Amino acid sequence: EEGEGTAKQDVATKQAMKEASELLQKGGIVAFPTETVYGLGADARSTAAVEAVFAAKGRPADNPLIVHIAERSQLEELVTEIPAVALTLMDVYWPGPLTIVLPLRPNVLSPRVTAGLDTVGIRMPDHPVALALIAASGCPIAAPSANRSGRPSPTLASHVQEDLVGRIDGVLDGGPAGVGLESTVVRVFSNGQIQVLRPGGITIEQLSATTGATVISTGGADEEAQSAISPGLQAVRTHVNTVDSEAPRSPGVKYTHYAPQGELNIVRGSSAQVVATKIKFLLDKAAHEGAVTGLLAFDEHIPFYGLNPASVVISLGSLVNPAETAHKLYASLRLFDEMAVDYILSEACPEEGLGEAIMNRLIKAAGGRIIDIG
Ligand code: TXA
Ligand code: MG
Repeated sequence: EEGEGTAKQDVATKQAMKEASELLQKGGIVAFPTETVYGLGADARSTAAVEAVFAAKGRPADNPLIVHIAERSQLEELVTEIPAVALTLMDVYWPGPLTIVLPLRPNVLSPRVTAGLDTVGIRMPDHPVALALIAASGCPIAAPSANRSGRPSPTLASHVQEDLVGRIDGVLDGGPAGVGLESTVVRVFSNGQIQVLRPGGITIEQLSATTGATVISTGGADEEAQSAISPGLQAVRTHVNTVDSEAPRSPGVKYTHYAPQGELNIVRGSSAQVVATKIKFLLDKAAHEGAVTGLLAFDEHIPFYGLNPASVVISLGSLVNPAETAHKLYASLRLFDEMAVDYILSEACPEEGLGEAIMNRLIKAAGGRIIDIG
């Protein structure tokens, strides 16, 4: 019986896949799961389809989309040059959460995809549904995250529905996304340097260990996040600017992203206990003023807060498991919205490894509001 059920499910999945790929071929827009977050796909060669994606999301037209491929052979028609270090990155990380920005071959993609830039971000997602859909549609698929612009990226098909129902042609449900944060976006230079434009699932430590290349980090260097960057990174950024003042940042970093509807602030300090005391004080004050309050805290610190520190308390998972924090961050932000929370305080985590991407997204969600208590 079990075998029969699975077979039926396969047929259903195949049918959904067939319909989704046909929609894409006809210029439709379809959301699909990837290993990072759900994407909203369109035929990257079709200006009408790509414009429909921007319209459904409410996304500013100057923020380019990532192009998704299923096979390495699709790459040559899209780009004019593949530096050796990019090949190494593809060997190691594709399929996977790494987007590589390369020089665009003219007249292949709709110019809307790249917002008129002469480069294109390309990635091969590590998800069977995404890979099958791209292969079945037979075209490069432009896909931003499948959320309304400014909302947390979707890590479940139901998040896509929440944001985009009635605005898109369909959603392929592949269950929860794995990583939970968007891909790392890198630019690679002919001299072998790698510049991180957006931190993500592949960490800077990994990039430099696997390539031996100089990895320069500008991730999180947007207006809101500026104050939160550690002195080390700031030094690196200054260095970047002197080395290559032309290097564009990921255009997407200038927009406020991922924000919950309530006001989110991050409280940061060297002692978790002192941070908890400060957070508890601020939450109590807000509650007295009539706010529905929310707390995002790590499991290890929950005991510091005593009973009922906020109307809604959500765990960021364990401090020793940043993958768990990444996996649940966006769903947690959406949960605060569902519970109509209007004042949220969050702990911070160390900005190393995956923690850098986590803090990058959290700081954006907070609109840059960080309360530093030393
Ligand atoms: O994990 C992901 O990357 C997800 C899944 C669906 O693949 N996609 C995603 O797309 O996060 P989106 O559109 O939400 O973010 C794309 C980011 C933006 O910050 C954009 O500015 C940057 O990539 N980007 C795209 N093309 C670029 C280019 N040619 N140069 C610099 N940055 C680029
Ligand atoms: Mg996005």
